[in-house]
Amino acid sequence: MEIRKIPITNRKDEHILLVSQEKVESNQTTWLEHVTFVHNTLPELNLDDLTFSCEFLGKSITAPVFVGAMTGGTELTKKINVSLAKAAQKYKIPMMVGSQRVILKHPETKSSFSVVRECAPDIPIVGNIGIAQITTSESFKYVQEIIDNIDADAVAIHLNVIQEVIQPEGDNMFSGAIEKIQMLKDQLDVPIVIKETGCGISKEIAQQLFDIGINIIDVSGVGGTSWVAVEFYRAKKYGEVSKRELGKLFWDWGIPTAASILEVKSVVNRPSSIQIIGSGGIRSGIDIAKALRLGANFAALARPFLMVALEGQDSIETFIEQTFRELKITMLLTGSKNIDELKKAPVVISSSLKEWIEERKIEFKRI
Ligand SMILES: Cc1cc2nc3c(=O)[nH]c(=O)nc-3n(C[C@H](O)[C@H](O)[C@H](O)COP(=O)(O)O)c2cc1C
Repeated sequence: MEIRKIPITNRKDEHILLVSQEKVESNQTTWLEHVTFVHNTLPELNLDDLTFSCEFLGKSITAPVFVGAMTGGTELTKKINVSLAKAAQKYKIPMMVGSQRVILKHPETKSSFSVVRECAPDIPIVGNIGIAQITTSESFKYVQEIIDNIDADAVAIHLNVIQEVIQPEGDNMFSGAIEKIQMLKDQLDVPIVIKETGCGISKEIAQQLFDIGINIIDVSGVGGTSWVAVEFYRAKKYGEVSKRELGKLFWDWGIPTAASILEVKSVVNRPSSIQIIGSGGIRSGIDIAKALRLGANFAALARPFLMVALEGQDSIETFIEQTFRELKITMLLTGSKNIDELKKAPVVISSSLKEWIEERKIEFKRI
């Protein structure tokens, strides 16, 4: 896909352009570098015997790896969705689509999302809408439309307060959100995933969400794509000086991914029903293994999948195979024959992450 040749007439395409061509990663890291697996020099395992297959929403998947929520709504993003969905179907991994808000005002864009289900009939697919859109009362009726659009297995509500505040055309109304999430949950017959978009989720918020019956949280912490950075570039382009400066200031705001996974995991007291997706700056099979070791059930990658999708179908497949290989080798080197064993592999936690665990009184079993 030759992105430079595409006329950018729309915010979704503009996001793709900025995320793929500007420096949009946060300066703050994920803190996964403060998690070190204790090397097992005698694993007594064969690489080919290791397995990381698991289940999400009752469907078998090859690996605990998701295509993170990104896009839809335009011709360019439809092509990206088709490529990602074909790969997700081939490798049997779940896929989250980007915000489907656009289909409500522009029903002609529906196919840019529904192609995902057409190309990937067997995998779990997660729909997407922003919290700002469900805080208005008329919103309830259209969430079902969003689900039906892609025959979704679940719907993600994304939290993006800082992005909305800095976005030139963003929303500023955030009160009453928990109540709205609960009302929505009671009306839907698919689970709700609550996800951040790069600022992480704390244990206090996770507890509030668990208390109203939310069972799936995607932490999307700091360390990967910064949406403040993306909005910084847009504010700059549109001459919004104050928002541009706010973008610079809040560029790295939030909870690093490693800390956020630990935060959310620390309040899980019904382990079988709660699922945590570790995301935000997950960039390799080692990162995935560390996210799982800290307490995530799955890991999601967004920007890395966009970058390979723009290169072509082969690049997506090569990337998935390489990532799987990296995860498998990490399992071998920690003596873990499956994900359950990886989740108990000995680790050492150091530096800022160690301090965070102490300061925040988080319980974490290292061995
Ligand atoms: C191009 C792009 C578009 C995105 N659009 C959405 C979206 O519509 N809804 C959403 O919940 N998250 C969206 N995200 C956020 C990602 O799902 C993810 O939380 C965030 O990018 C951090 O992951 P990463 O560091 O692997 O990119 C988008 C990310 C990218 C890169």
